[in-house]
Amino acid sequence: MKGAIVGFGFISGKGHLPAYQRREDVEIAAVADLCPARLEAARKALPRARLYSTYQELLEKEQLDFVDISTPPVHHAEIALAALAKGAHVLCEKPLTTTLAEARSLVDAARKVRRVVFPAHNYKHAPVVKFALETIASGRIGTVRAVTLNTFRTTHAKGVPEWRTDWRRDKKTSGGGIAMDHGSHSFYLTFAWLGTLPTQVTAKALTLDQQWDTEDNLNCVLTFPNGYAHAFLTWTAGVRKVIYSLQGTRGALVIDDDNWEITSDGQSEKGLIESDWMDASHTKWFNSLFDQFKTAIASGDFVNRELREAVACIQIIETAYRSNAEACRELPLPLDVTTL
Ligand SMILES: NC(=O)c1ccc[n+]([C@@H]2O[C@H](COP(=O)([O-])OP(=O)(O)OC[C@H]3O[C@@H](n4cnc5c(N)ncnc54)[C@H](O)[C@@H]3O)[C@@H](O)[C@H]2O)c1
Repeated sequence: MKGAIVGFGFISGKGHLPAYQRREDVEIAAVADLCPARLEAARKALPRARLYSTYQELLEKEQLDFVDISTPPVHHAEIALAALAKGAHVLCEKPLTTTLAEARSLVDAARKVRRVVFPAHNYKHAPVVKFALETIASGRIGTVRAVTLNTFRTTHAKGVPEWRTDWRRDKKTSGGGIAMDHGSHSFYLTFAWLGTLPTQVTAKALTLDQQWDTEDNLNCVLTFPNGYAHAFLTWTAGVRKVIYSLQGTRGALVIDDDNWEITSDGQSEKGLIESDWMDASHTKWFNSLFDQFKTAIASGDFVNRELREAVACIQIIETAYRSNAEACRELPLPLDVTTL
């Protein structure tokens, strides 16, 4: 597959590209980035690729099977729509878009031009997260009714130093703070673990580091037809880690980074699955995600399940911000993404 990367920053340079370079079925033929220093980095990493300073020129001059969008979120929708219009499939970093209206426009465009739009929901590909799904399927913890997801970070993730490294804290570039940046990862995991989609959200956002116009802490509860989820995300923690818990009718699974503990009918068992949580590029998770993208392309699954889940994530994020603005009122999530 002939692909191009738009936005040659941290995630595409350190996460996606090393994974592409280990594959025989992908050639990255071109890169677009508005930052000259990042184009220089692309030239070193991909000496044969053609380089462009705008995505428009890249799309005009290249014939591509797919475009990998790895720019900050506010540009995702516009670049994805332009790539689809040129007949390319789209692999897009999270969050898919910064508004629900944009997310829906991508679904409509994917269907219309018969091209796949696929979000990089890579946490599903972490080995210990795959283990959680296997544990649920095995029945060991019974039916899952409540999950908690804690994501602790000591700071916001930084972009490459050559270009606005703190863009995540600037709302006009990021679309929001930690909810926008990291919320999707927690939310699509709740869909997988509870086996359905939420119907309501209540949220409290805080900005502890007040030099920025974006929140650095989010607490929210999602109500599902069969249970609930509590997600806590923070950029002001004293430690970097994830702690997840899945509470079922027969027991529980607790994940603390690579460590897991299952309690089943009162008996506990512990183990460890190396999942590379500390490598923020998550390059080891990428190939299994890319295989799914390829399968969606091969089967013509343009409006695929991952895309619907990405739309559901954006609906939650948008509604969570509204809930926070309305004194944490519980608000409905009226769009049923399975009908899209
Ligand atoms: N799935 C994950 O685990 C994960 C991890 C990190 C980042 N991300 C996502 O990847 C995206 C990029 O994040 P990052 O950390 O790599 O940021 P970054 O700042 O390191 O890279 C962004 C790059 O995009 C370029 N750019 C900015 N606007 C552009 C435009 N309009 N056209 C072309 N190039 C443009 C910048 O020059 C920079 O090189 C974000 O959506 C982020 O949420 C996902």
